Amino acid sequence: MSIPTIQWVSGAVRIIDQRKLPNQLKFLTCKDTKALWSAIKTLAVRGAPALGAAAAFGVLLGIKRIKTQNRKVFDKELKKICNYIGSSRPTAVNLFNALSDMEDVALKNPSASVDALKKKFKVKAMGIFNHDKKVCRQMGANGAKLVKDGQTLMTICNAGALATVDYGTALGVFYSAKQKKKRFKVFACETRPLLQGARLTAWELQKQKIDVTLICDNMAATLMQQKKVDMIFTGADRIALNGDSANKIGTYNLAVLAKHHKVPFYVVAPLSTFDTKIKTGKSIPIERRDPNEVTTIAGKRTAPKNIKVYNPAFDVTPRNLITGIVTECGVVRAPNAKKIKRLFK
Ligand code: MRU
Repeated sequence: MSIPTIQWVSGAVRIIDQRKLPNQLKFLTCKDTKALWSAIKTLAVRGAPALGAAAAFGVLLGIKRIKTQNRKVFDKELKKICNYIGSSRPTAVNLFNALSDMEDVALKNPSASVDALKKKFKVKAMGIFNHDKKVCRQMGANGAKLVKDGQTLMTICNAGALATVDYGTALGVFYSAKQKKKRFKVFACETRPLLQGARLTAWELQKQKIDVTLICDNMAATLMQQKKVDMIFTGADRIALNGDSANKIGTYNLAVLAKHHKVPFYVVAPLSTFDTKIKTGKSIPIERRDPNEVTTIAGKRTAPKNIKVYNPAFDVTPRNLITGIVTECGVVRAPNAKKIKRLFK
């Protein structure tokens, strides 16, 4: 897989600037937390697992600038950095789980010197980065077992290499199935308003030589009615303890359609995307984004001035519409709180 979505290079965070895809493959180097915050907010880097790695590297950027050797002062500054990074986007829990893992380094080493602690932070951040690479491949292998030769699959948004460190969750299933020499086709939903499906998934799957056909979001129903879809695989940004799963707006539409047309609907997500502290999807914070994303397409205004706009970035698919959640530890079929608790044991 040759898509280096996010890397730590010479003391800075190097990302593929996803705002420019598919027309230009450009890299963006973030040298401080402010630049990284802005890259997250404007979706230069996006996708739940990639945001986890970005948050961990963001902490490294922040602590580099702390000059004190006083632990109390350092710990206070660290808290500020984590709160700042956490204010970028609210829904993907990977970002908050990574920040909490980083903060734990300080909590678990109360007597370490600031210099020793900074080294431990680097090890932890690289651990989060490498763990994502590993679990994406495990999820891919677990999900690929579900794919039968000759099937047609559907996906929404971008849950691929660009949404993770380098391989993907839902698209990782496709990569793994291809590696196992299975033949299949993919319908990619364009994913309005920001077109992560058209711009990113179509680009990524084409680059990996997967047979992909782009559709507008509102074409999914007719394809399912015509029995042209065998299975749906999506990613997730936050999964509640009972299995309710938040993902890009439009995912819930697909899940309802899938139930009606008896098409299996799978969510593919690592354990770092679960939020076991919240019982149901009702407690998942949903990001509301700029109205301009709806009133314009690729920078061109398509709606009248002063129109009222509603622009939630994510929706929640209730657990009873989910056939299974594919994780690095296997597939949780008909997810519920009991099965998910067992996953974490
Ligand atoms: O707003 P985005 O582009 O960050 O939304 C991303 C998604 O909804 C992905 O499907 C999700 O993060 C899973 S990525 C493996």
